[in-house]
Amino acid sequence: MKIQRTVPPAAAPIGMRSLIHGLAGIFFGKEYRRRLEDELRDYFDVKYIFLASSGKAALTIILRALRSLLPEKSRVLIPAYTCFSVPSSIVRAGLRVSLCDVDPQTLNFDHDLLESCAQKDTLCVIATHLFGLPSDMEKINNFGKRNGLFIVEDAAQAMGGKHGEKPLGSLGDVGFLSLGRGKNITCGSGGVIVTDSESIACEIEREQRQIDEMSIAEILKEFIKVLLMTIFLRPSLYWLPSGLPSLKLGETMYDVDFPIRKLSGMQAGLLAGWRRRLEESNAVRARNASSLTARLNLPRPLLTSVPYLRLPVLVKSREAREHIDALSLKEGLGISKMYPAPINQIDEIRGQFKEAEFPRASEVAERLRTLPTHQFVSEKDIETICRCFENEYDAFNTQQVMGRHKNCLNKCSS
Ligand SMILES: Cc1ncc(COP(=O)(O)O)c(C=O)c1O
Repeated sequence: MKIQRTVPPAAAPIGMRSLIHGLAGIFFGKEYRRRLEDELRDYFDVKYIFLASSGKAALTIILRALRSLLPEKSRVLIPAYTCFSVPSSIVRAGLRVSLCDVDPQTLNFDHDLLESCAQKDTLCVIATHLFGLPSDMEKINNFGKRNGLFIVEDAAQAMGGKHGEKPLGSLGDVGFLSLGRGKNITCGSGGVIVTDSESIACEIEREQRQIDEMSIAEILKEFIKVLLMTIFLRPSLYWLPSGLPSLKLGETMYDVDFPIRKLSGMQAGLLAGWRRRLEESNAVRARNASSLTARLNLPRPLLTSVPYLRLPVLVKSREAREHIDALSLKEGLGISKMYPAPINQIDEIRGQFKEAEFPRASEVAERLRTLPTHQFVSEKDIETICRCFENEYDAFNTQQVMGRHKNCLNKCSS
């Protein structure tokens, strides 16, 4: 453990006022939750909002609801490179995982392959806005219509991102967001479900009625975790938790045994004033991402305002990656790897995929590194990160994402 300034890979700080609202939420939880639901309904401009204890819990509830609408279908199609929480939720909902390889340039479905991935028993497809980079929802929605699939939007990493005027999360049949640690805004742990569909909302409501509230012990434990996170997230102190392997910070885990609860009043309280916090934090993310993009000479996005949760960069070779990882560790720069393997290589479920291979997802797992963009990243950190990357990366080409934004901007302005 080295005592030095250490930048966390991702951070969404919680201020003192929010902590006080969190405490008040223990006593006036109903009111805080009702207000939060109203604000989210207004923000996403949808009829139905549901709150859950995490993004995983939200996704599991959604999948169970969709399954009860189409009980004969049991497969969920996802990108072969995504957060391990996604297959965890699919398996928890009693469904099976189908994979489509990804395009390393967009970190999204390879659209040339997607069509061949729909099967007779596919229930839905999950479109993911990884790091806040919007998926091509037009293409995915059309694919869903052609094949009779529900479209679930995984906006866990994209709260506050937009497609034209519409918030990410509100573009499919149903979407969800994460309020977990290190997301765009956080209440420690939490999930939001967004839908305009009455039939889906009815089923979700039925699922929700069977879900328990958090116990007071669970609420207090969550509050203490948030308090510790608030203290130790600062770069001057982050060396301590990041040096404790037992905390497993930054590790992605496949785990189907997670709690599914309602969001507590305390957590809703922690989110008081979330809209302003979200705007401020995303403005900083967009600015830092833009500065890193310019200095590293990456292709400049047409839409410079993507609030990247982390800035993804593909590194050239294993040696380059090791060099960058070692420098980041030595200097506490917060450059991090993401998911260590494609989904088909998760031990617990690899049997489902037989001999199938997803070479580009494997390549992304090997080569992807992400740079921190949050508000604790200083100008000096950006300089040091860029020095560490000199000549070691391949440009992360955001062309496809840019093209789609351009279309959207044209459409919105016509
Ligand atoms: C893409 C993606 N989907 C789903 C989730 C699950 O969200 P949560 O951590 O709130 O359960 C995450 C969380 O990191 C995520 O990054």
